[in-house]
Amino acid sequence: MIRPETIDKVLEVARIEEVIGDFMTLKKRGGNYIGNCPFHNEKTPSFAVSPGKGIFKCFGCGASGNVFKFVMQHEHLSYPEAIKYVASKYKIEVEEERPSPEQQMQIDERESLMAVTAFAAEWFQNQLHETETGRAIGLSYFTEREFRVDTVKKFALGYSPEKRDAFTTYAQAQGYKLEYLEKTGLSIVKENYRADRFRGRVIFPIHNVSGRVIGFGARILGSDKTIAKYLNSPESEIYHKSHVLYGIYQARKAIADKDNCCLVEGYTDVISLHQAGIQNVVASSGTSLTTEQIRIIRRYTSHITILYDGDAAGIKASFRGIDMILSADMTVKIVLFPDGEDPDSFARKKHPDEVARFIKENARDFILFKAKLLLDEAAGDPVKRAALTAEMLESIALTPNALLRSEYLKECSRIMDVDEQTLTWELGRLLRKKAHKNDENLAKDLEQIKTTKQHQEEKHPEINRLALQEEELLRVLLQYHDKTFEIKYTAPNNEIVRENYGVADFIINDLLNEEYLFDLPVHQKMFDEMHSGHSNSTFPSIKYFINHPDDDIRKKSTTLVADFYEISPRWETDKGMPTPREGDKLNQLVKEVLLKLKLRKSEQMRQEVMKSFAKPDLTEEDLHEIQVRLQQINEFIQMIKNEMGLSSC
Ligand code: CTP
Ligand code: MN
Repeated sequence: MIRPETIDKVLEVARIEEVIGDFMTLKKRGGNYIGNCPFHNEKTPSFAVSPGKGIFKCFGCGASGNVFKFVMQHEHLSYPEAIKYVASKYKIEVEEERPSPEQQMQIDERESLMAVTAFAAEWFQNQLHETETGRAIGLSYFTEREFRVDTVKKFALGYSPEKRDAFTTYAQAQGYKLEYLEKTGLSIVKENYRADRFRGRVIFPIHNVSGRVIGFGARILGSDKTIAKYLNSPESEIYHKSHVLYGIYQARKAIADKDNCCLVEGYTDVISLHQAGIQNVVASSGTSLTTEQIRIIRRYTSHITILYDGDAAGIKASFRGIDMILSADMTVKIVLFPDGEDPDSFARKKHPDEVARFIKENARDFILFKAKLLLDEAAGDPVKRAALTAEMLESIALTPNALLRSEYLKECSRIMDVDEQTLTWELGRLLRKKAHKNDENLAKDLEQIKTTKQHQEEKHPEINRLALQEEELLRVLLQYHDKTFEIKYTAPNNEIVRENYGVADFIINDLLNEEYLFDLPVHQKMFDEMHSGHSNSTFPSIKYFINHPDDDIRKKSTTLVADFYEISPRWETDKGMPTPREGDKLNQLVKEVLLKLKLRKSEQMRQEVMKSFAKPDLTEEDLHEIQVRLQQINEFIQMIKNEMGLSSC
């Protein structure tokens, strides 16, 4: 716990423009600073820092907040970590108390387990560096493995001495309860017997994302085949093996920066690669990745590179795990290491540059890698070949991104020499089958969403109008994409012309013509998927979106679908007339939804332009430009309103 007084003090002393200025170039503009936003791609600066208010704001992507928020977002830190970061820049001491044995009884169990674990990690490190035997046995083991001292410190490696209960006895003497020592697995407790679980081993502490130690891996020092080479902490309140990624704390920033996460088998691989300068690397310390682990990685990147050190046949066993990564809309590449080498041994033999180059040159796309591998196996066997096609399609079907799917289909049809049309058709069948399976969950989700949505609207009445209109447009697209409507107009020769349009065709083309960019990234993503699906005649289904691995898309589409079953309020009349169903008036609906969207967008643009009036240091020329721009927008808005039958206001 960081004390509120400390937080206040940091905020008082820290200068936001200095802190942010460490990460990007800021230019002074009047009383403020501006620069290119680090949170989205841009060439002209729309990122502003106000020292007076102590905040930053990007007028392009909407990122905003105080100095802590910036550090959290930019460095992928938690709130307390961000506070500590800023505090240390200004040499402010952050007081955090380690609980006394009495206080410890009062804090909750989780915290107690964490406290014992932190205490143990420190003790193991102490044993390694500060004791004669620790240095002679433990440290020399690491040195033999060619771990440098800075690496040993970075990963907080330690040593647990041979003596049966050295740690348990000391910890108890310091007031740590046996109950917690047992629950964390640090001590083995029998009726008349206490022992240190990890005695006589070197220690690899396992950190969670925010850097707290939650468990340990412990390796024997020799190569005795009769005892387990590694012992790991048992499952506990704070240590869930399936949620843990070894190295994530040390790697997370590099993963975000490189937009890629390398995945290896074990502790030593992670550490040796770090030493070779490859820092975006974690280990799953199990056979294959779990969904929880994938979720953690996904916070930083959607690209995984698996560094695999077995033979090709061995990797087949992990195909299922890899399929899971694909269905999380992540791309997977595979690097196979030379026979008999693992990343650890390879990194030790080669120059760091060579290691990086090897990974870069040998990374192959998983789906294509799989296709080739299976194809080699099926050579000359038509039955196997047919099964192979089916298996490939299974993997491709897991990729939620329609654009990527069609790329894969193309490549696979080439590699496997199967007609692309046939593959497309088969894939369509598979996708429909999958969608059907998820049917039952839909009703339940809907109920829940409806209530939360109502709740949210009551709580936040000031929601962005443009975003709401975009939502409405996507809903119409999703709900009626396969319907057609008629437009009737009078031609110059006074003839009445009737033309039929598909809803999806009409809306998508209209937005593409206007080069419309959605305000919210999640809307843009959904629209892109609809667009690419529509061009391949496989418009994504509602269920597809509702089961989308992207959390934002899933949430958003479930909200949209909740609307399907209510009649849009604008179709209600106040004269007690029966409400026409909106689907019966598609031409009106489509027109209105497009016009309203453009209206909201223009209104937003007008607001932005108005804001630029307030900027300091405007030249005569700037002012003129702003006025012209404003006039254009106003004219456009009036045009839309006329078309909508609204009077000017
Ligand atoms: N591993 C494990 N339990 C084991 C063996 C291995 O958890 N019984 C994991 C560890 O994370 C280890 C990785 O698999 O880092 C690689 O295994 P291995 O190469 O056998 O371990 P090393 O410690 O590198 O041993 P060696 O020096 O013999 O290569
Ligand atoms: Mn090894």
